[in-house]
Amino acid sequence: MKKKLNLRDFGIEMWDQPTIFAFRRTLLDWYDREKRDLPWRRTKNPYYIWISETMLQQTQVQTVIPYYQRFLDLFPTVDDLASAPEERLLKAWEGLGYYSRVRNMQVAAQQIVGNFDGEFPKSYDEIASLKGIGPYTAGAIASIAFDLPEPAVDGNVMRVIARLFEVDYDIGNPSNRKLFQAIMEELIDPKRPGDFNQALMDLGTDIESAKNPRPDESPIRAFNAAYLHGTYDKYPIKLPKKKPKPMTLQAFVIQNDKGEFLLEKNQKDGLLAGFWSFPIMETQLVGKQLSLFDKTDNQVLDSLSLLKVFEDDYQINPVWQETNYPLVKHTFSHQKWQVQLIAGKVGKAQFSSSRELRWVAPEDFEHFPMATPQKKMIDAFEKVQE
Ligand code: ADE
Repeated sequence: MKKKLNLRDFGIEMWDQPTIFAFRRTLLDWYDREKRDLPWRRTKNPYYIWISETMLQQTQVQTVIPYYQRFLDLFPTVDDLASAPEERLLKAWEGLGYYSRVRNMQVAAQQIVGNFDGEFPKSYDEIASLKGIGPYTAGAIASIAFDLPEPAVDGNVMRVIARLFEVDYDIGNPSNRKLFQAIMEELIDPKRPGDFNQALMDLGTDIESAKNPRPDESPIRAFNAAYLHGTYDKYPIKLPKKKPKPMTLQAFVIQNDKGEFLLEKNQKDGLLAGFWSFPIMETQLVGKQLSLFDKTDNQVLDSLSLLKVFEDDYQINPVWQETNYPLVKHTFSHQKWQVQLIAGKVGKAQFSSSRELRWVAPEDFEHFPMATPQKKMIDAFEKVQE
């Protein structure tokens, strides 16, 4: 048995039963009137709900809708996802970012095929045992698809709860999640757990948003301690996060005599593994393409030596051009990139290198999964050519 957390130890006084009942009714009445009509709300299929919830982590609803529909057209069942070729999978996810999500999903689909006879598991613990499925996603699937009284606590829900009870714990600290989970276990409506969770998500993304909340319009304002006590601006407590690390990189845009571009497949395990891009290296760590995390070499090389390192590493000798390209900027959650482009041409399309390299015509780019920084590099290169 899990040890039950005592809310009083955290300075939280839970409501009495009539208040909890009134809260559920008020929230669900509002949801029935105002809920957004979203494609994944028209189904109880756990596979569909899983796809939507995974896409909705870190990505907004409006962006997700077309991806969701396309993904299900391409991979309509767990079996299809389990057996999909990696390139098709990455292509379907292209632009959503956080690519480990879709790789984990494929492993989980293979677990469902291998360990559950291809049928989506129906209990919270079994769902949470699947690769990449954490407590939030397990709770969302269990409550929405299987009507189990399991909370789905994400940042939006924590914000709403923090205001309701004036919770003095940082919502950005993962170890505080269990406190919000414990509060939700008391509140969740066992008759309509999926709707209850989604009602809080809707509130959290709109009326109770982080940036522009409209507390006067909230259907649950009468229950909201922060609103009633005039402390709404103080909650939720969210301490500043570490800033993404600034990095400067050099990308090499090399064309052969047929106008094809040199693309390289990123090695396994690193950032953006499996994606194709122009050869690229961190300028402080030259000579170790994609050793972006290797902190041992802090040598900064000037641009001439950089070209030399490229020529040695790739065993090709382009004629370098003097064109200046605008810096390409891209921010990941933990890294902030500034990429300098340099273009070069080579006569004969040949290389002898252990790297995974291809000459690719622009009209064939669509067959190669490319992450957003690479797309920005192509755009920056093409703009200057026009
Ligand atoms: N964000 C995460 N899950 C959601 C859902 N089911 N509906 C709306 N927004 C969400």
